[in-house]
Amino acid sequence: MLDAKLSQMIEQTGQQHLLRFWKELSAEQQKLLAAQLADLDWDLVSNFAKKGTSPQSDFEERARRAAPPAYVVRTPKSAADRDKWRAAREIGENALREGKVGAVLLAGGQGTRLGFKQSKGLFPIGPVTNQSLLEILATKLIATSQRYGTTIPYFVMTSDKTHDEIEEFYRRNNYFGLDPKDVFLFPQGFAPSVDLKSGKVLLADKGNLSMSPDGHGGLFSALWKAGLFGEMQRRGIEYIFSHQVDNPLARVCDPEFIGLHLMHESEVSTKVVAKTGPDEKVGVAVDIDGRTQIIEYSDLPKDLAQARDAAGDLKFWAGSTAIHLFNRSFLERVATSDNILPWHRAIKKIPHIDDQGNAVEPTVENGVKFERFIFDTLPLAKVALIVETVRDDEFAPLKNKEGEFSPDYVRDRMVRLSKRWLNSIGVNPPDDVAVEISPRFALSPEDLSARTGELAAVPFDSPTYLGPKD
Ligand code: UTP
Repeated sequence: MLDAKLSQMIEQTGQQHLLRFWKELSAEQQKLLAAQLADLDWDLVSNFAKKGTSPQSDFEERARRAAPPAYVVRTPKSAADRDKWRAAREIGENALREGKVGAVLLAGGQGTRLGFKQSKGLFPIGPVTNQSLLEILATKLIATSQRYGTTIPYFVMTSDKTHDEIEEFYRRNNYFGLDPKDVFLFPQGFAPSVDLKSGKVLLADKGNLSMSPDGHGGLFSALWKAGLFGEMQRRGIEYIFSHQVDNPLARVCDPEFIGLHLMHESEVSTKVVAKTGPDEKVGVAVDIDGRTQIIEYSDLPKDLAQARDAAGDLKFWAGSTAIHLFNRSFLERVATSDNILPWHRAIKKIPHIDDQGNAVEPTVENGVKFERFIFDTLPLAKVALIVETVRDDEFAPLKNKEGEFSPDYVRDRMVRLSKRWLNSIGVNPPDDVAVEISPRFALSPEDLSARTGELAAVPFDSPTYLGPKD
């Protein structure tokens, strides 16, 4: 039997259909469904019912008040800029040496656009080695930790869709050389999906609600639930670098970024790149009512996406790379403030069962999934800083099966970057030879300068991997 209070909530919110098949369920299945229902935030269910069926998102309306971000550090152009970045680097390096930096990896997404059978982090992206995204990113963390003689704990957010696979993959591969004591896998939460017309929560089958991961903004409550703020405190971690599992170019715990964040006394900083054009599907950093924030591309009306300034450049130019740096104290503040982040809706084709209990595979969008976004924390910060970086150096996310952000695109970007680094020290592999550089061979072009003798002996006559020596 269901708890009386729960039954009342179900009735009050008009969700009685969720119990339509109750009598057909075994005792065990009833227990599971009751647990799912007990876990639901019923205020949220009512809110979703309204939001799910509303014709327009509130975010579009807000976007009309947007201006380009005012508080931004652009890529260095003058000698003074370069001095500032050099100073920032030193500050960031000190924070790393002092063991104040931790890293968060977001790996809870479903990767639907890529259509890879396994979780996205397992995708073999290395252009020569076929190394997975997880391995490449872990190796960057190891190389950075080694360089600064420190341990950077790795907080990996998974979801029920990705947790077991990622855990198993790390374990099978000995955590790619990371110490398992420094790797913390924690699952994010869920949100129920609702019917587009009625706003009612969908049933995945007779004994299960239709649920999906609650978005990368689920990070804060997930860290809290897993008790990881305590772990961070015990380790003296003050700054958290956050990156996504799909971007192998991310400069994990980049000292310049950390230093700029500290110099500007920022609580949350975000790296952006100039958008390639009005239609590029990335969020844009803007100011709305004097607060810096990011508008998701789907919430930016087309005329605004196309708007240009007097110089003919895109007015909303600052494309988000989804690379962020947070003060731990700020993360904790967000995590402990109830319902502080808004919910975004995504209209999707959601498989479910109908009133008769028959499985439905929709051919048109029938439902709404709800997600929170990590970047909705920006307007909550006392200081939010936008830092521009060079796209080719750090942004090539794997999103799609084909075209832009596809596996071929990402591998091509990785090879180009390796070659640019080599070219900068006078080593010029032929155009048609793929080159991949392990982060443990070089983390930056400067590292290559120390290896010119070694590199002179490399023939580059076939796909070449410059790997770690140990
Ligand atoms: P995306 O929003 O690009 O989603 O996530 P995705 O799952 O990779 O791909 P699609 O949209 O289904 O095709 C960007 C990053 O945020 C993480 C993803 O794992 C990825 O690193 N993410 C996304 C989460 O950790 N949790 C989520 O609920 C959503």
